[in-house]
Amino acid sequence: MQVTGQIQQVREFVKTWRKQGQTVALVPTMGYLHEGHGSLITRARQENDKVVVSIFVNPMQFGPNEDLASYPRDLEKDRAYCESLGADLIFHPEPEEMYHEGFSTYVDMSILTEELCGLSRPVHFRGVCTVVSKLFHIVQPDRAYFGEKDAQQLAIIRHMVDDLNMDVEVIGCPIVREEDGLAKSSRNTYLSAEERKAALILSQTIELGKQLVAEGEKDADSLVAKMKENIEKEPLARIDYVKAVNGLTMQQQKNIESPLLVAMAVYIGKTRLIDNFIL
Ligand code: PAF
Repeated sequence: MQVTGQIQQVREFVKTWRKQGQTVALVPTMGYLHEGHGSLITRARQENDKVVVSIFVNPMQFGPNEDLASYPRDLEKDRAYCESLGADLIFHPEPEEMYHEGFSTYVDMSILTEELCGLSRPVHFRGVCTVVSKLFHIVQPDRAYFGEKDAQQLAIIRHMVDDLNMDVEVIGCPIVREEDGLAKSSRNTYLSAEERKAALILSQTIELGKQLVAEGEKDADSLVAKMKENIEKEPLARIDYVKAVNGLTMQQQKNIESPLLVAMAVYIGKTRLIDNFIL
């Protein structure tokens, strides 16, 4: 497995693979990899000849009061993990390599970015779309793999690829959970022992939501109200949002009907966690 921080070197590797007729996958990450990322790399490994994992904590997708400086990083551990899963190349650029002086071109999107996480993180999706577009241009993958935990991000990236005619297949992979149900996230490391227990309210409420739908709940507002009521029982939890939206457009939905995304962001102490289920 190779590791490089240089765009030019990535291009050279990919050029060589292409000449050999090999297919290329990209797994974009911000590092501090866990089994959620592992499932993306494993799937990419199964479906492609070559697998590139990008590890880049993208400053552009963090707001001024967010956790850019404290975001966990451990390149050595990530390197060993990627190698064990059979990745071929890690692309780990410095911010200056991705955003040279005078950088002033952005990829932005309306409507889909104005709901859910976009409301409390106004610059986030512009940063995500810009960096993912750049990564697609650098690596030119046949397929790119993203987690369904970031369901809004996945919908936005699919939409961007469609709008801008990008020649890449976007593949979503299911949420990976801890044994007790908590969705795996690099941000789980911020939680104290007490908060870690409290954080279970997210997955428990997802289960409650699924159960209510299975039992025949038809009204989105009533579903969301019951889920919010359940979260409010946990004293350490503060709701950012719980919403039932159309899974493609992110617009609020009245009835429980497919394609439905029921998504939530909840602060546990200072840590903002997300979870969702899709119908
Ligand atoms: O999901 C993430 O880790 C990031 O938003 C991504 C897609 C790697 C872009 O920085």
